[in-house]
Amino acid sequence: MPGIIVVGSQWGDEGKGKVVDVFSQKADFVVRYQGGANAGHTLVVDGKKTVLHLIPSGVLHPHTTCIIAAGCVLDIEKLSDEIRALKENGLLKDDAQLQISDSATVILPYHKVLDQAREKAAGLEKIGTTGRGIGPAYEERASRKALLFGDLFQKDSLRGKLEVALKEKNFLLEKFYNEKPVSVDEMITLIDKVAKYLEPYRSRDTSLQIYKALKATKKVLFEGAQGSLLDLLHGTYPFVTSSSTLSGSAMIGAGIGPGTINQVMGITKAYTTRVGSGPFPTECDNEIGERLRQTGAEFGATTGRSRRCGWLDLVALKYAIRLSGITSLALMKLDVLSGFEKIDVCNAYELDGQRITEYPVSPGDLARCKPLYESLNGWKEDLTQAKSVQDLPRYAQEYVQFIGASVAVPIDVVSVGPGRDQTLWIKPLFS
Ligand code: IMP
Repeated sequence: MPGIIVVGSQWGDEGKGKVVDVFSQKADFVVRYQGGANAGHTLVVDGKKTVLHLIPSGVLHPHTTCIIAAGCVLDIEKLSDEIRALKENGLLKDDAQLQISDSATVILPYHKVLDQAREKAAGLEKIGTTGRGIGPAYEERASRKALLFGDLFQKDSLRGKLEVALKEKNFLLEKFYNEKPVSVDEMITLIDKVAKYLEPYRSRDTSLQIYKALKATKKVLFEGAQGSLLDLLHGTYPFVTSSSTLSGSAMIGAGIGPGTINQVMGITKAYTTRVGSGPFPTECDNEIGERLRQTGAEFGATTGRSRRCGWLDLVALKYAIRLSGITSLALMKLDVLSGFEKIDVCNAYELDGQRITEYPVSPGDLARCKPLYESLNGWKEDLTQAKSVQDLPRYAQEYVQFIGASVAVPIDVVSVGPGRDQTLWIKPLFS
């Protein structure tokens, strides 16, 4: 069965949206299976920018059906805004192109208030969340009090479910965080307004739909959000998101079995970025980081925050490859490295005086790691006009080969700019 998972192999913002958009030219279905509006993809098509947070990047291709599966958390106001913007730009002509699972978890304004209140109260210890209510929504799901997308259309039981959820949340908001409580009526008014708008996209059982598509050998692309190092269990806890960002999460979030997948593509930048708090061994808090930030326009699509920047970390990349069973890589933003005389690549860490080459998972260890670098030759040439990998200058080609050889995974795609035509294929997808 031709299922392909695309996952971020760093701390998010690797360029998954561009890869999924380009691959969607050949995909029948694109499925989002975890996360919510904390993600943000900026897509540039014919020089026009579109920012997507929840809707899969495949939506820009009219033949592709986009699914938001059960594992996602749905900010229903943001989702409506996103649909409206796509429609206004003539990019979502047919409602059937977008299908939302009845089992996805709903995010309401109080989740966002709680998320932001917690961050404020944490002060210097804050996680640096996107403030989009992701943690509180997944918590509510785990505590079995969440509203699901399908609940929005069950008028009889909606009020009762909201009362149960809000009783606890209002206590926390009022008594612990000194925030205003939220009324059930207020939430019902919001839901009434938004649910009508979203009803045409209601698909009930997206797991069945995906299963049938895979059985009929349709090409299905599973679009991961965030990155491997933000995974709730295996990332840099507690500085992580609240869902699993690894390839295995596609099975759970979409409701399919592992036998349906034949490729896992990891997306990595040619350097590293991170937003929010937490350890980042190769961070360059100096003019190198600043240059990467400015040249790579490293400012968040969701929150506008400037991203922390540094050299490529192969120890972390190998860890991500192992966790997700990544079978090939897409190397993004290689063009940003043009003009550096030397390019450092981290291939080991020093931890408490020892050289280690495996990513350390024990709490506190990563924060004590110092990167050990290998220095490679840089190149001066602009890469953005290259049409194939052979067009790249010698040292850029050597950089690509060095990474592929170091992590023992083939690099199938190299990206040299935001446009679709700035994608250099070494091996086509679904080939
Ligand atoms: P949350 O997902 O909003 O709870 O944020 C938790 C952590 O994940 C914070 O460090 C965020 O900056 C980070 N994060 C969440 N979504 C993304 C993303 O799409 N790209 C990069 N970082 C993200």
